[in-house]
Amino acid sequence: STEGQVIHCRAAVAWGPKQPLVIEDVEVAPPREGEVRIKVLASGVCHTDAYTLDGHDPEGLFPAILGHEGGGIVESVGPGVSSVKPGDHVIPLYIPECGECKFCKSPKTNLCGKIRMTQGKGVMPDGTSRFTCKGKVLHHFMGCSTFSQYTVVAEISVAKVEDSVPLDKVCLLGCGISTGYGAAINTAKVEEGSTCAIWGLGAVGLAVALGCKAQKAARIIGVDINESKFEMAKAFGVTEFVNPSKLTKTVTETIVEMTDGGCDYTFECIGNVATMRDALESCHKGWGESVIIGVAAAGQEISTRPFQLVTGRVWRGSAFGGWKSRSSMPRLIKDYLEKRLMVDEFVTFTKPLDEINAAFDLMHQGKALRTVIDL
Ligand code: APR
Ligand code: ZN
Ligand code: ZN
Repeated sequence: STEGQVIHCRAAVAWGPKQPLVIEDVEVAPPREGEVRIKVLASGVCHTDAYTLDGHDPEGLFPAILGHEGGGIVESVGPGVSSVKPGDHVIPLYIPECGECKFCKSPKTNLCGKIRMTQGKGVMPDGTSRFTCKGKVLHHFMGCSTFSQYTVVAEISVAKVEDSVPLDKVCLLGCGISTGYGAAINTAKVEEGSTCAIWGLGAVGLAVALGCKAQKAARIIGVDINESKFEMAKAFGVTEFVNPSKLTKTVTETIVEMTDGGCDYTFECIGNVATMRDALESCHKGWGESVIIGVAAAGQEISTRPFQLVTGRVWRGSAFGGWKSRSSMPRLIKDYLEKRLMVDEFVTFTKPLDEINAAFDLMHQGKALRTVIDL
């Protein structure tokens, strides 16, 4: 058994901004109190990993082990851990759920605050790291660091899943899919018969479409400048398409016309402040609600005329789809097993750890919904 021992394994190390990841032998220390060490089997690659690696995140810390869309098996647990045990299948969570803080006690939010400070500093809750490489301490990332064959996370940052679900697919529930699906279900609370529009038909936007469909929306309009996304989007429930680069009118005018005054719900899944404005202004007067999901670059600001809100449009946002992360995982898995929530279809490529930089290239080229790294 490796319990209590330092584990030597392979990981993709981000040594500095704008540098490709390097596969290294790293040391992973045993879990301390309230911590869990996980053998990571698979991890998706998400835009936030690229954003940090490209040096755009002013709070990005190097060197680090990135990755936050993982699935794995508990190898060992630290003192005081009672909710998971070695052998359990788990998904690490970048938003934990402690169940005790004021955020966890409020039904209005999923933003647990318990370990936010240390997580943001790239360390475990006790202020130290479990990773070293070539004598240097490596930072953790988003409380997950799933681009390593072993990682250590806080107990409050793991969701247990049934042994029967494929970890190389449901790892994607760790970020993009849950984020989009929950934005429609929990944040917008889309109603039967609604007219919805989604900006950006990547993994997040398509997961929004699945959420709108699960809520029985009548119309789901997909907005994307890349028409190669349209055909596949139909399988996820998108019923109509708009390509903003091919319009003679503005996208807002076009959608308001298509929908007799605007949408009931719109979703921005690009991270562009201009399309955030378009999405809000394409909402119906009196009740239309727009949800911001895409992450805009640091320092960007949104704008609209206040008249838009005075006349009843609502601007919202959510992180991780508003799901309380640990306690909602059984619902997400159930929706997956009962085929309301497609997951396997998001895996467009699978690559070994050695080829992780190619996974980033595929994402930048817009060719992948998700590439899953086989660790
Ligand atoms: N107008 C319309 N569509 C656009 C525009 C635009 N100005 N710019 C980009 N798009 C489309 C792209 O063609 C692509 O299909 O948005 C989609 C974005 O999809 P992905 O890059 O696959 O991103 P995804 O993983 O879905 O994440 C969406 O959420 O994670 C956040 O901010 C992050 O940008 C990311 C967003
Ligand atoms: Zn992500
Ligand atoms: Zn909490």
